[in-house]
Amino acid sequence: MNIAVIGVGYVGLVTGAVFADLGNIVICADSDTAKIEMLRNLEMPFYEPGLEDIVTSNVAENRLTFSDDTADAVRRSEIVFIAVGTPAGESGETDLSQIEAAAEVIARNINDYKIVVNKSTVPVGTGDLVKNIIDRTKPRHIEVDVVSNPEFLSEGTAIQDALSPNRIVIGAPNKRVAMKLIELYSMLEKPMIITSVRSAEIIKYASNAFLATKISFINSIANLCEAVGADVEEVVRGVGLDERIGPRFLRAGVGYGGSCFPKDTESLLHVSRKYGEEIAILKDVIELNRRQPLRLVKKAEKALGTLDGKTFAVLGLAFKPGTDDLRDSSAIAIIRSLLSHGASIRAYDPMAMEKCKKHLPSITYCENEYEAATGVDGVMVLTEWNKFKQINFARLKDAMSGDCVFDGRNIYNPEVVRNSGLRYFGIGRGTDTF
Ligand code: UGA
Repeated sequence: MNIAVIGVGYVGLVTGAVFADLGNIVICADSDTAKIEMLRNLEMPFYEPGLEDIVTSNVAENRLTFSDDTADAVRRSEIVFIAVGTPAGESGETDLSQIEAAAEVIARNINDYKIVVNKSTVPVGTGDLVKNIIDRTKPRHIEVDVVSNPEFLSEGTAIQDALSPNRIVIGAPNKRVAMKLIELYSMLEKPMIITSVRSAEIIKYASNAFLATKISFINSIANLCEAVGADVEEVVRGVGLDERIGPRFLRAGVGYGGSCFPKDTESLLHVSRKYGEEIAILKDVIELNRRQPLRLVKKAEKALGTLDGKTFAVLGLAFKPGTDDLRDSSAIAIIRSLLSHGASIRAYDPMAMEKCKKHLPSITYCENEYEAATGVDGVMVLTEWNKFKQINFARLKDAMSGDCVFDGRNIYNPEVVRNSGLRYFGIGRGTDTF
């Protein structure tokens, strides 16, 4: 099939590359000429494992091209995916201006029947908005169907997630277009569900909000564990074995970040209020997540007396491992807070340092975890990169001048850390914290 993907951000680029890999002819289009130029030179605009390989091989096979001429991409395709950014507006609502602009381009360049597929995360009702924009601008005799097909991939595992999703949701306005999308996805051999457009739009937000709720819930339990001297890691083992609950997304830590959970919980709360059905639980989920990173700063203050004049090694800057994405990263919130208390930072992240230098130019960036730990009062692990799990505590201790390890992702066995002569501070590990 001939496919256009508008928007070469995370979702758009991965979607385009994967559809090309499945044998389709794909044009990834974006008005950002600099990004398109990079991609034509096979340079990836962000780090994602496996992305460069899949892009390179499909470009070589002539199935994948990049263009800054969105109008032309629309004219040459039967299916047009919209995968543009949907950032948060001022009061939590979703800014749909890029979606509206994409709909306008599609409308002005329709030359034949088109299936327009919304892949961006958009509030319920956006399918209708896109259809209305196209209908009022397009030549009258040409038909258009607008489908909602939310994406569930995660950063760091995006290619694998897109090639092997646990479900494919197709929110279709009629059977004919549903069948076409089923045909497109049939090679993946994964469960597909056909819903109304509005249900599909809600499925995306309900999924992300539920996962964010799971995280804030376990972080609340972790905070209680600290108060009563229990260990949240033991609690999660006991709770997660209940098959109705499951152990995933129950990792306590310094809170969730990224480009999705913070924005999508705010947006769902906003939409629910708009329709007079406020999902009140989300207010607590969001507020708890705002406070969670700062609890680690308070712990450091309690352990060291004052933060003024102290130096910390921060290991991990990205919002999660496997990515260089810093959007809403808890590590950034923690660093800013430490700096505001008069502390100095020596940071290391295997992938995200170049991007971080633009946000935080004044901190010291180091070559590895041991260099970062040199002469510091405390080490804070804020992203659970695998290499941090294998840290050599004897070497770490030798490098440090103090002895505090703040494990913001609970990746260490407190006994092992303490046996190395270091003090251990985790999340929700009450018995081990002080
Ligand atoms: C999330 C969803 O997991 C995807 O299904 C969805 O498609 C995507 O948003 C999206 O809407 O585009 P992503 O933001 O890439 O994916 O990352 P996650 O793995 O979900 O992690 C989000 C945050 O939650 C990270 O900061 C992570 O550290 C934190 N987290 C995750 C926890 O604190 N505890 C956990 O148990 C799991």
